[in-house]
Formats: sequence, structure tokens, C-alpha cells
Amino acid sequence: MAADVTVEAALAEAEREIGLLRAELEETNRGVVALYAELDVQAEDLRRANDLKSRFLAYMSHEFRTPISSLLSIARILLDELDGPLTEEQRKQLEFIQSTSLEFSDMVNDLLDLAKVEAGRIDVSPAWFDMVDLFAALRGMFKPVLTNPEVVLIFEEPDSLPTLYNDGKKLGQILRNFISNALKFTVRGEVRVSVRREEGDMVTFAVTDTGIGIAPELHDSVFRDYSQIDSPIQKRVRGTGLGLSLSKRLAELLGGSVSLHSEPSKGSTFSVTVPLRKSEARVADD
Ligand SMILES: Nc1ncnc2c1ncn2[C@@H]1O[C@H](COP(=O)(O)OP(=O)(O)OP(=O)(O)O)[C@@H](O)[C@H]1O
Ligand SMILES: [Mg+2]
Repeated sequence: MAADVTVEAALAEAEREIGLLRAELEETNRGVVALYAELDVQAEDLRRANDLKSRFLAYMSHEFRTPISSLLSIARILLDELDGPLTEEQRKQLEFIQSTSLEFSDMVNDLLDLAKVEAGRIDVSPAWFDMVDLFAALRGMFKPVLTNPEVVLIFEEPDSLPTLYNDGKKLGQILRNFISNALKFTVRGEVRVSVRREEGDMVTFAVTDTGIGIAPELHDSVFRDYSQIDSPIQKRVRGTGLGLSLSKRLAELLGGSVSLHSEPSKGSTFSVTVPLRKSEARVADD
């Protein structure tokens, strides 16, 4: 009899404790649910703020394009002396206006592209193209800017590589930024552009320079918006620090990625790996 009473008491006590625990759990649950709801609201706010920022950037950069192109064409007309001859000083000043407007125009274009990528409004248009044609276009583009006789730009053309089915324009944009960076940060030696086939139907384009290099702890940060590394060269060259962050996002849109190997004062290799054939399925869900 006494034993039964003890068991009953113990059971009642256990039940009471379970009840307490359950109440505590329910309370915690309610707390978690409330927290989730709060997080949802915050995520929505963030998304809206980000959307607004992208839209603002897109509108602003778009509106800037017209005045910049007027500036550029007026400078061009004056420099061509269509309105009469220029003095040496006037020519110098007009060339200054021209190069500053070009710099401004590059910056606006990068900003517009970034805003478009962020807003998911950049379309990938895959088409068949030949690597050799891409290299020829890049070679032509950089010929006029190769002003330092101590740096050579080499395109290692592949013996055999299949035709690519991807967005050649965007791939060209990524390589253009890698090459222009390499030329900016290399005082002596070479900038070498190469391509190799990888496992799993991927292809890697690499731009290797013998320039100032980048310290290992900065390898990630150079791919962030507006990131530029302090150096004596940096003060002399043009740029806004958007090229690499845009290149990274474009590579991801193409179904690939970018990477960096670099050693200070030895040089850097920036690579972009993309699929040989960009599948339509990925295009659709981008
Ligand atoms: N090949 C390189 N060698 C050394 N440093 C580099 C090299 N490429 C990039 N960097 C560093 O990374 C920074 C970011 O490069 P990024 O291309 O994003 O910007 P930018 O060239 O300064 O400006 P933008 O490309 O927007 O005109 C550069 O300013 C430079 O400090
Ligand atoms: Mg750049």
C-alpha cells in the first residue's frame, strides 16, 4: 500500500515536471516563431533596400551616359580641328577633358552592369564562337594602349580547342578587365593570356603578369566592390575598383568562377573558368 502511494506520488511529480517542461518548450517555440517572423520582416526590408539601391544605380548610370557621350563627341570634334586650329595648350586641355570623360564613362558602365547583375536583369546570350576570334578581338583592342615598351602582351593560341557555346561578349568583358589590370600593375616583363581545357567540359582562361603581385591576405578582398590596394602604382592609374567584382559576378552568370594566384613582387594570375557549353537550363534559371 505504502509502495503504491510512493509510486503514485512519483508519477504525479513526473507528470507535473513534464507539464512544466512542455509549457517551457511551448514558450520557447513561441519565441522562436516570433524571432523568425522578425527575421522575415528584416530580410524583406533588406531585399527592398537592395532593390532600391540597384534601381537607383541603374537609373543614375543610365542618365549619366548621354551627357558623357556629348562631352566625348564635342572633345573629339574640337580635337579634330573641325572648328579651326588649336594651340598646344588648348589641345592638352581638351585631351584632359577627353581622358577624364572616358574614365567617367568606364565607371558609369561598370556601375550600370553591376546594378543590372544585382537586379538579376543581365541576360546571358550564349552563341557559338571561336577562341581564336576572341583573342584576335582582344589583341586589336589592346594594341593602341600598349604604351610601355618594357611590357609585352602575349596571346598563347591553343592548337586545338573546340568551339565554345557561351556568352563570348561577357567572357571578353572579364578578360578585358584582367588584361587591363595586368597591364596597369606590371612595369616590366610580360602579360600572358592562355587557355586550357579542364575536366568536366570546362575551359580556363588565364591572364598571368610579372607585375607587383597581391599579398595573400588580400586575395579575397580584391573581388569586392571598390576594393583597391594601396601602392605607388595605384595613384598613377585609372580605375574605380569595380572591374574584378563585376568580373566575378559575370563569371558566375556564365556558369563558372574566377580565381587568383599571386605572390607579391613576382606577379599574378587571374583565371576564369567557364563551361564549354552553357546549358540552356542554366540560362533559364539565371
Ligand atoms: N594584375 C594585378 N596585379 C596587382 N594588383 C592587381 C591586379 N589586378 C587587380 N589588382 C588590384 O585589385 C584592385 C581591384 O581591381 P579592379 O579591376 O576591381 O579595379 P580597378 O582596376 O582599380 O578599377 P576598374 O577595373 O573598376 O577600372 C586594383 O585596384 C589593384 O589594387
Ligand atoms: Mg580593373
